[in-house]
Amino acid sequence: MSGLDGKVAVITGATSGIGLATAEALSERGVKLVLHGRRGERLEAHAARLPNCVVLAGDIADPATPDALIALAQKSFGRFDIAFANAGLIASGPVDEIDLDAMSDMLKVNIDATFRFAYTAVRHMKATGSGDMLFTGSVLGTKTRPIAGAYAATKYAVEALAESLRMELAGSGVRVSVVEPGLVRTDLHRDYEVRPEVSQNVPEPLTPADIARAVVFAVEQPRSVLIPRVMVLPSGQNV
Ligand SMILES: NC(=O)c1ccc[n+]([C@@H]2O[C@H](COP(=O)([O-])OP(=O)(O)OC[C@H]3O[C@@H](n4cnc5c(N)ncnc54)[C@H](OP(=O)(O)O)[C@@H]3O)[C@@H](O)[C@H]2O)c1
Repeated sequence: MSGLDGKVAVITGATSGIGLATAEALSERGVKLVLHGRRGERLEAHAARLPNCVVLAGDIADPATPDALIALAQKSFGRFDIAFANAGLIASGPVDEIDLDAMSDMLKVNIDATFRFAYTAVRHMKATGSGDMLFTGSVLGTKTRPIAGAYAATKYAVEALAESLRMELAGSGVRVSVVEPGLVRTDLHRDYEVRPEVSQNVPEPLTPADIARAVVFAVEQPRSVLIPRVMVLPSGQNV
């Protein structure tokens, strides 16, 4: 039996990609799930397939969402142990050409909503003296590249939040970790005219399951051990 058996995880951005793969990996270890995203039909399908899984559909940018998610965890399962702030989107382009409305939407989801979810989740965890607060950052939270300045800025923000939180919560029983993926084949780039594996010359991108393994690695550590950051890159990625 996994040490995670019976724990409860709230995962944002769980309709597809990294969030969904992480939900599946945690579920295999006996974790009960609260899943969030906008595509309600997908969430319902996941709930029908995964044991002990409840879902809430909506916009993560709605400031009421974090409280609603944690209340759903408490009402459904009576506890709340793992928060995975994973919802995100990408708007890219040269700084003087990027679609500013798309950029604003991205800032709202990747920064504002992520901060608000962490704010609420951590307050609950501190009260119980235990928990895991995880974020999906990016390799672009540690460096940038042309046309990725705005997206990288959001992931730098996630790194800053997580590192401050880690220090503030040291000794509290609440651990803070960031997973930093390189290129993963998901719905994130669905609107790209040129596939990123082509434009970035990455012959074999990661799969969402590759990132899920890193999340599981962090949360399965003994409580005395913290993994603050895990970067996972395709072995062929050179940018
Ligand atoms: N794919 C990569 O190469 C890569 C690399 C580094 C980091 N990341 C990060 O990984 C995370 C997950 O992305 P992914 O690659 O797994 O792509 P994905 O399959 O598109 O997943 C993104 C998730 O975020 C949710 N989401 C986006 N906007 C939302 C909103 N306004 N309200 C609620 N949910 C919202 C989406 O749900 P709905 O569409 O159903 O709302 C979806 O579940 C993101 O933070 C992304 O920045 C991805």
